[in-house]
Amino acid sequence: KWNKADLAVADANLAGMGRREIALAEQEMPGLMALRREHGPQRPLAGARISGFLHMTVQTAVLVETLVTLGAQVRWAGSDQLSTQDHAAAALAVGGPEADGVPVFAWKGQTDDELWWCARQALAWPNGRGPTLLLDDGAGLTRLIHAGVAAERAAAGSVSRDAADPDTAPGSSAEDDALRRALQAPAGYWTDLAAAVRGVSEETTSGAHRLHRLADRAELLFPAISVNDSVTKSKFDNRYGCRHSVVDALNRATDVLIGGKLAVVCGFGDVGKGCADALRGQGARVVVTEADPICALQATMSGYPVVLLDDVIDQADFVITATGAPGIVTAEQLSRMKHLAVVGNMGHTADEIDAVGLARVPGVRLQPVKPQVDEWQFPDGHSVIVLSEGRLMNLGNATGHPSFVMSASFTNQALAQLQLHTRQGLTAGVHTLPKTLDEQVARYHLPALGARLTTLTEEQALALGVYVTGPFKSAHYRY
Ligand code: NAI
Repeated sequence: KWNKADLAVADANLAGMGRREIALAEQEMPGLMALRREHGPQRPLAGARISGFLHMTVQTAVLVETLVTLGAQVRWAGSDQLSTQDHAAAALAVGGPEADGVPVFAWKGQTDDELWWCARQALAWPNGRGPTLLLDDGAGLTRLIHAGVAAERAAAGSVSRDAADPDTAPGSSAEDDALRRALQAPAGYWTDLAAAVRGVSEETTSGAHRLHRLADRAELLFPAISVNDSVTKSKFDNRYGCRHSVVDALNRATDVLIGGKLAVVCGFGDVGKGCADALRGQGARVVVTEADPICALQATMSGYPVVLLDDVIDQADFVITATGAPGIVTAEQLSRMKHLAVVGNMGHTADEIDAVGLARVPGVRLQPVKPQVDEWQFPDGHSVIVLSEGRLMNLGNATGHPSFVMSASFTNQALAQLQLHTRQGLTAGVHTLPKTLDEQVARYHLPALGARLTTLTEEQALALGVYVTGPFKSAHYRY
């Protein structure tokens, strides 16, 4: 039993509402419920201490309670300053009729220092122990630990202080300053903590990129499973989840009509594809910006003109960024937008829209409209609306993806945790779940949608070079 003082949520009284929404979400998360039924009695995660750092939503609560049902102990922090659903955090912390409470450190509207303080709490197990497993988003915990180990090595003189790792060393942003402050720990703390971690499972594209770069330089300290690289994650959550939640966020934030307006989607990867489809579904005229010729060609084939942001910025009614790269919409471009045009970011990091630069434009004034909706007024009298301070708009202005799509993502997460806990000999590289498990995740979700799978004949399977029971595709098939 955990010490009930060991939590930090906005308001424990919200637990009742959170619990009712968790019960509704469970109905929409067949993959996680199947894992509970099939594996719960054996408690295969017994002995695992999981530190989680991922958006603290209703759906995440169902994931955490699944991990507990599978035998794990869990401590949790939300991975974004604005994405926590306070009622979900309260319900998870307080527990329910069938679930003990879990230490949760998350509330909506955090400072950068509070975000990283919460991450530290998620890592701080009682009696000075650390986690055996990490469940990460944007490689947040992974980055914290690698930066901590690097600082200890530099202090011990084993590497040069100048050998800053571009993927983990804190940079010059305010958020990175907070991360730097969060590294304070007794000598050897981070090195010991890293040594005890059996592995990390990573949720999103941006985090997976960081893990791959660390692994390429042989600097990754423990095995990683990129959940994002499961087909049933990135081709569903990133695409269809965003198709649902981008419009939800725009409506809750501004409720301006989307139909007939000009919407620019920056980036036509999985997230951008979902956003573009959703905006077109609302009747918007959608154009796309891309750097990758393949994705640009895909956009044109889907009927989206591929343009330069500079050429359309003064006509756009909406600009949605979905690249994972910094500096996509500059302060200068923001200043050229139409009066009350809306700008929002769907990518993981907050620097796609230069909100920091915007604040420095001479004479610009911030007029908050309501939480997570800011009107920036320029000296000439016109304004732009920036959502969620440039952070993930679908989690800041709305409630993220719907449960069903998160069930597919989080079933992959739970399977990844099982693999990391039980498999011996995983190297400190970036792994993906085997295709059999990817296909199993899809299978868990088909009955709820009334889908019936055709069974291949032996002859057909032979001709295709697959087994009747799958896997149905080779590893390099792209879906
Ligand atoms: P992706 O790699 O499939 O797509 C990103 C695309 O942006 C690429 O095609 C790339 O060529 C393009 N791009 C990069 N720089 C560009 C530039 N300067 N101008 C125009 N296009 C540019 O990645 P994915 O999976 O679509 O993820 C994008 C971001 O969204 C990541 O940060 C990811 O972590 C995040 N994400 C957010 C979710 C949400 O709920 N809001 C869900 C899943 C992922």
